[in-house]
Amino acid sequence: MRALLARSPRLEAIAVAARRGSLPRDAPSGTVPLRPLRPPPVDEDNHPEALALAPFCVGKGIDVGCGHRKVTPDCIGVDLLAAGELGEHGVVSGQRSVADLQASGDDLHMFVDGELDFVVSRHNLEHYVDVVRTLQEWARVTRVGGIVAMIVPDERAGDTIFLDPTHKHSFTPESLARLVSLVGGLEVVETRVVTRRWSFMLVARKVESGAR
Ligand SMILES: C[S@@+](CC[C@H](N)C(=O)[O-])C[C@H]1O[C@@H](n2cnc3c(N)ncnc32)[C@H](O)[C@@H]1O
Repeated sequence: MRALLARSPRLEAIAVAARRGSLPRDAPSGTVPLRPLRPPPVDEDNHPEALALAPFCVGKGIDVGCGHRKVTPDCIGVDLLAAGELGEHGVVSGQRSVADLQASGDDLHMFVDGELDFVVSRHNLEHYVDVVRTLQEWARVTRVGGIVAMIVPDERAGDTIFLDPTHKHSFTPESLARLVSLVGGLEVVETRVVTRRWSFMLVARKVESGAR
């Protein structure tokens, strides 16, 4: 093993990171990310991700995958975890859900078409098997002219799948913008880094069906 590490500086760097404990605790056992990623220190009371999404929370809307912290108190929190339930993975680990509705974000049948002014989500889209269906559902419940704004881990910064064993997809601003544009019903307004080497935001506007 030592001989193998000596021949590969990259493997050796990973082994050093693992020994220092700087690999994510949630990484599936037996695997190591080639590009380990650590959450940056942030001021929880003025979290840049909440500050970035808050301006879009005007009117009636939902925070999908709210976990233990909604973007604003007026958002309707939606999460797989019922209110008060303890999270087990990632940032929600050991924290109690503040969801107002227990539901999967890819099946929002409790809302009729165009009922909401906005959908925001923070570190949630990467958790769905079928992200196209999820984005279509977020577009369905949003009124024409309303906003769908999401923050996801930035795959350019490191191997984001390893941050949480329930992550299923990884995105860059370019890949997510392409996906959102292809889904239909949503027009990408902007993408921008929110927390350097950690996350980015994509903002989309609901457009008339077929008016892409
Ligand atoms: C990484 S946490 C983010 C929590 C919070 N938005 C934040 O940024 O602190 C992901 C959240 O998404 C929720 N989640 C995962 N899959 C979901 C799904 N299919 N529908 C709704 N929520 C889901 C988890 O329960 C968890 O609370």
